[in-house]
Amino acid sequence: MDPEALAPLRALDYAALEPLHAEPVKSPAHGGRWIRAWANPAAAAAYRAGQALPPGSLVVLSSLEDRWGRPGLENGPLYALDMTGDGPSLTFYWPRVPLDRRRDTGGEARAYWRGQDARLEACRACHAGGMAEPAQRSRWRVPRREKVDLAG
Ligand code: HEC
Repeated sequence: MDPEALAPLRALDYAALEPLHAEPVKSPAHGGRWIRAWANPAAAAAYRAGQALPPGSLVVLSSLEDRWGRPGLENGPLYALDMTGDGPSLTFYWPRVPLDRRRDTGGEARAYWRGQDARLEACRACHAGGMAEPAQRSRWRVPRREKVDLAG
């Protein structure tokens, strides 16, 4: 049986990969969530250089839901891109979709979409060649807060 039939094991182990963002960036392309990208050794250098990812590349986006314009505590979905010999393959995995976000998944309480799944159609618009256009990458970080002097 395909070891990833029930859950995307390699994407779930994203923390073993190399982090490409030192801090989360807010990504309008991914539901306005706060994302960090993680790359395997095959992908990291090409991703940083904005060059086409070689076969064997795996890039995962971990995500947190937005709360008051900042990264919140609730996990968002995992997004993954595999470059296979046959081209890109995308995965969307959200093991527990909060009630108020189920409009994002067509009402599903758990989403695991991968490969040729029709529900990834919207993703393919930006990821037809695999990696999204580097010029489109989000650079919107958490705003630094002024220190409030409580002593007045
Ligand atoms: C409107 C265009 C757009 C759509 C739609 C979109 N993405 Fe992305 N994606 C991007 C951009 C731009 C980045 C770069 C990171 C960032 O700034 O958000 C990215 C990054 C990624 C990455 C990391 C590798 C890379 O290409 O940089 C993965 C994996 C990914 N997206 C998967 C998905 C999946 C799965 C979906 C659908 C659920 C999706 N994306 C929908 C534009 C899009």
